[in-house]
Amino acid sequence: MSHIVKTDVLIIGAGLAGLSTALSLPKSLNITVLSKAALEVCSSHYAQGGIAASLDKDDSVSDHVADTLVAGAGLCTPDNTASILGAGQQAVQWLCAQGVPFTQNSPNALDNTSAQEFSRLQTSDLHLTKEGGHGCRRVAHADDATGRHVMDALTIKAQAATNITILPYHEALELLTLPIASDKPFFTDNSDAKHCRGALVFDHINGRPLTFHSRAVVLASGGLGQLFKRASAPNVCVGDGVMMAWQAGCRLANLEFIQFHPTGLALDDSSFLISEALRGEGGRLYCPKTGVRFMLDVDARAELAPRDIVARAIAEQIDNNGLGYVHLDVSHLPADFVKAHFPQIYQTLLTLGIDITTDPIPVAPTAHYSCGGVVTDANGLTDVPGLYAAGEVAYTGLHGANRLASNSLLECVVVGRNIADHLPQYLERLEDLEEINGDIYYEAAQSAIEFWSAPILTNTQPVVLPISGLVAQQYGHGNKTLDVVDTNLAKTDVATIATELKALMTANMGITRSAGQLEQALTQIQKWQDWFTDAESDQSDASNRRSPTTASELACFQLTRQLALATLIIQSAYQRMESRGGHYRLDYPKLSDIPRASVVEPQREPYQQ
Ligand code: SIN
Repeated sequence: MSHIVKTDVLIIGAGLAGLSTALSLPKSLNITVLSKAALEVCSSHYAQGGIAASLDKDDSVSDHVADTLVAGAGLCTPDNTASILGAGQQAVQWLCAQGVPFTQNSPNALDNTSAQEFSRLQTSDLHLTKEGGHGCRRVAHADDATGRHVMDALTIKAQAATNITILPYHEALELLTLPIASDKPFFTDNSDAKHCRGALVFDHINGRPLTFHSRAVVLASGGLGQLFKRASAPNVCVGDGVMMAWQAGCRLANLEFIQFHPTGLALDDSSFLISEALRGEGGRLYCPKTGVRFMLDVDARAELAPRDIVARAIAEQIDNNGLGYVHLDVSHLPADFVKAHFPQIYQTLLTLGIDITTDPIPVAPTAHYSCGGVVTDANGLTDVPGLYAAGEVAYTGLHGANRLASNSLLECVVVGRNIADHLPQYLERLEDLEEINGDIYYEAAQSAIEFWSAPILTNTQPVVLPISGLVAQQYGHGNKTLDVVDTNLAKTDVATIATELKALMTANMGITRSAGQLEQALTQIQKWQDWFTDAESDQSDASNRRSPTTASELACFQLTRQLALATLIIQSAYQRMESRGGHYRLDYPKLSDIPRASVVEPQREPYQQ
């Protein structure tokens, strides 16, 4: 029997979306924030470039929206885009108030550098940098380590808040959903209407499963970059939040739009990013063999063309030169400027023997951001009442087919704060369903359901599971109660498959794809899935297991889920027979006439208490 923990609001993820929500919710609520690993192991912490908002007097929200829609290549949701970007200035001002040490126009304008001093900053004081796709300087930043500075400031605030408990090394495994009075005959029409009421969690510190009961859940668990071989995200980012939401009954959209950042550091499997801001400030890309500045021949915007264009051009150079990288060069910029603006990159590379003021940097594309995810509106509402989602796990439609640089940190703050506005109103309508019965129960639950308007998606194409490898479907049906299989197979076998899955995703579902590559990938994943099924049949009690209780069960559980998610991503890519934004099909290189979001329908068999 798993230990039960009660809290008002459970937030899964301690990155920017999670902490923005936690810090903006009323102090009267008891909030628990889970972090899968150490607190700094989240993508927000590693964000370099900054946070985009129209702060300059010559800029406007409509210009920011226009640039975002262009980058999104017809797939942004216009209303949500306007609403999120329209809140940009307030969001950055809120971050200033939390004491984030943003880089200023006039350095040292403040007397000292304490958080209290920084909290007096106004958005008009901030230095703005430029990144690809932005028509003007629009990116507020804290040197070249914006994420670290933002997260340090918010973590200090959250740790000081008496109503917030942060639990590192607590991994959410499955969301708990409570059907509305399915035992009462007059609810039969509403049998699908379930509230999200907590999560099953693995406590890595004590090596035990826990059950969290809450009145609402916020999913802020980040992205899925680590399904790929080279990724800028930390290794915890394998898309488990997306799968938990899907299994709880949420739609997923646009999973095929994985954004590859053009310039990851190309040393071994490093996940260190070389910020786009280097190109924004004049960095140039060269072929190491020929010395040619190749972007001049590819796009009029050269190194500041949209990311998908730059990433594809670099990948082509790499294929042709056989070196595994191209060169990014800032040695023509004044050394003092480079050191002052990019202190983290300068220092990090210096320790690796590269002085960026004189030496070129070896770079290659790296999986960076999932533009799709759990369908939400701009307030973070998902399809399941009581379940909110924000940040990379979510799909608000802001990023369309290709995210505009530095829009994601903004989205984390804006949607996180929107959730904090909406959630107390939802809770007001939701009396504690465990403690009331009969008509009152009905009225409270019904009122909460009516208040909850599920996000609307227009112009969509459903992803049907088209090919023989229906791994995801099998996973969903078989996994109603977390069929974790203790396979008795050596852990290294699971680890080997996990590594091979990354290589497969990079090779077959990478910067370019084709039907043949995608079919091959599905076939391989099916083989791995069969391997699990064979192992499972040896274990008569495996199918009753609700939650992993050992490290090896957990590894099997995680890998099964990754195989399922990889399948959904590949199937989404397979069905999109066009090239658009970050999705490039070698066999369908043109845009289709009508832009459509691709939608994966939810599993309808969530865990029931
Ligand atoms: C970067 O610094 O290049 C990353 C910014 C982003 O992806 O938004």
